[in-house]
Amino acid sequence: MNSPVMQGLNLNTPAYVKNARLIAWVADMAALCKPETIYWCDGSEDEYNRLCQQLVDAGTFIKLNEAKRPNSYLAWSDPGDVARVEDRTYICSKNKEDAGPTNNWVAPAEMRQTLETGRSPSEPALFDGCMRGRTMYVVPFSMGPLGSPIAHIGVELSDSPYVAVNMKIMTRMGRAVFDVLGTDGEFVPCVHTVGAPLEAGQADVKWPCNKTKYIVHYPETREIWSYGSGYGGNALLGKKCFALRIASTMGRAASQGPSGGLGWLAEHMLILGVTNPQGKKYHVAAAFPSACGKTNFSMLVPPAGFEGWKVTTIGDDIAWIKPQADGKLRAINPEAGYFGVAPGTNYKTNPNCMASLDKNVIFTNVALTDDGDVWWEGMEADAPGKAYPEHLMDWQGRDWTPEIARQNGENGKMRPAAHPNARFTVAAVNNPALDAAWDDPAGMPIDAFIFGGRRSTTVPLVTEARNWTEGVYMAATMGSETTAAATGQAGIVRRDPFAMLPFAGYNMADYFQHWLNMGDKLTRSGAKLPRIYTTNWFRKGEDGKFVWPGYGENMRVLKWMIDRIEGQANGQDHVFGVSPAYDELNWTGLDFSAAQFQSVTSIDKAAWQAELKLHEDLFKQLQHNLPKELTDTKAAIEQRLAA
Ligand code: GTP
Ligand code: SPV
Ligand code: MN
Repeated sequence: MNSPVMQGLNLNTPAYVKNARLIAWVADMAALCKPETIYWCDGSEDEYNRLCQQLVDAGTFIKLNEAKRPNSYLAWSDPGDVARVEDRTYICSKNKEDAGPTNNWVAPAEMRQTLETGRSPSEPALFDGCMRGRTMYVVPFSMGPLGSPIAHIGVELSDSPYVAVNMKIMTRMGRAVFDVLGTDGEFVPCVHTVGAPLEAGQADVKWPCNKTKYIVHYPETREIWSYGSGYGGNALLGKKCFALRIASTMGRAASQGPSGGLGWLAEHMLILGVTNPQGKKYHVAAAFPSACGKTNFSMLVPPAGFEGWKVTTIGDDIAWIKPQADGKLRAINPEAGYFGVAPGTNYKTNPNCMASLDKNVIFTNVALTDDGDVWWEGMEADAPGKAYPEHLMDWQGRDWTPEIARQNGENGKMRPAAHPNARFTVAAVNNPALDAAWDDPAGMPIDAFIFGGRRSTTVPLVTEARNWTEGVYMAATMGSETTAAATGQAGIVRRDPFAMLPFAGYNMADYFQHWLNMGDKLTRSGAKLPRIYTTNWFRKGEDGKFVWPGYGENMRVLKWMIDRIEGQANGQDHVFGVSPAYDELNWTGLDFSAAQFQSVTSIDKAAWQAELKLHEDLFKQLQHNLPKELTDTKAAIEQRLAA
């Protein structure tokens, strides 16, 4: 009775789609969401161009000046839909303990009432009729190279053409996915709606969304349901929802079967290659929280003093890491594009990124110049007396002049023309620093892991863990100041274990255990584990400015890590690890004094005693299943601090 065909809706299933489960699911979702039409994306250029034109006609996209920025568009979102919504993100596992204390949890049956079946006659399901008057796009995508044994397939049903075109850039999206799926291949079903049905004759808005938002994951049945937002990680479901939250549970589950395998890891990490002048190549995976420097580090240009060194990008946000028979941990980037932070990006800080953005880009929430190009805060390098544009349209479509910005700013700052979480969507192949093997399904063997937070005080520039457990401890207890990448107040220090606080699909303590188990099993098999480091590019001086120059200059720290791996740097032992002496870093081409170095590397005892209290709070919160190795490591640090 509920069948869409009976309602007169044609599924429009192309003849080449043969997966019975997929077709049945699309029919069910169409019956629930009641779209006006269904469109199956084929992923072609032609389709991309058509959908972009449709978005221009609808007023969602502004086509940028073709001469300045070919084939590029700008979208301005609803002012209430500008970032991930962590407080509306749910892990609906059967048992609350499996979601853990760091995730929002609702029992699956209850959440299904809210989303699918309705709570009562007066509280219908949010998804019931949510796509009325809209097209339901069927977006097939592969995370990881199409057809490779490590890739996983998802299908996103969305009523947002903005999502469809972004997914085309961010993933391997299109018809070939159906071929891989065949008649009975597995996929993760992802349903997304902006939650803004249109009644007959009702005009649409430029950025439809709903004040009510739900970003829901069912780890056991591997489903994603997203309601009410059109933005980034809330809506492009291959990214945080699938490639991190669901994939992290898949990686752990693979270690728990009867085979008792090692499982694998889904991490919020960039992957880069770094080649020394002798041609030896290393691979590094680095986890920094949202808006804390992954994209920048993955595209790093070695500065003066590093002639002959080369850094190449494999990924900028997500890594899937799998142990191999030879004991190596190999990492792939499951994505195909970058959804990166625009503000602060310029030719000095990240020339590779700027070059990536010269064509074929979708910008979201940056400002528009009078000649039809884009602008954001920090687009020009911070030169003294730098000129602001005379006039812009800001990310809410309002006139912006330096005068207006000064009048309307807060805390003595100008009102920004671009939203602080303004982003670009661009294909990886646009990146001039892209690693030649970036999409090699075999992945890259990881030599070092880095965990780095954003801390204006306390945490030194770089520290090496003395062993795997100490490294897991560093990662687990990492603190970082919040950023504009998620809604809520920015600049508050919070614990962000492994930079995965918003992204772990299961209990954080179990996640720590999974990391420890992997290290343990690999060590016992005789494998050499990657080194683990923690970094902080963000310590501030008394003037409130960053002391460390960062960006390309981070190469100096990266080189020290490689020296350590090669046994060429002694480092200095301290209470929680090993950090470099001033003369162990190559300072050629940079004027950075021993006193400045001291101010970014010093370890203040009182500050660390206070920091350890915060570790204690975290461990109290995570006490259920918290690995004993971590409390032991903490006790050892406390003892050394007290000595
Ligand atoms: P997500 O996409 O949210 O996961 O962020 P990300 O980790 O890729 O961060 P990204 O590289 O986009 O940097 C975020 C912001 O931090 C930008 O405004 C950068 O300009 C700034 N940033 C990046 N690296 C550095 C650095 O080494 N030093 C300083 N001071 N700022 C940096
Ligand atoms: C992040 O917030 O870490 C991002 C952007 O990479 S989003 O895709 O919106 O999650
Ligand atoms: Mn991210």
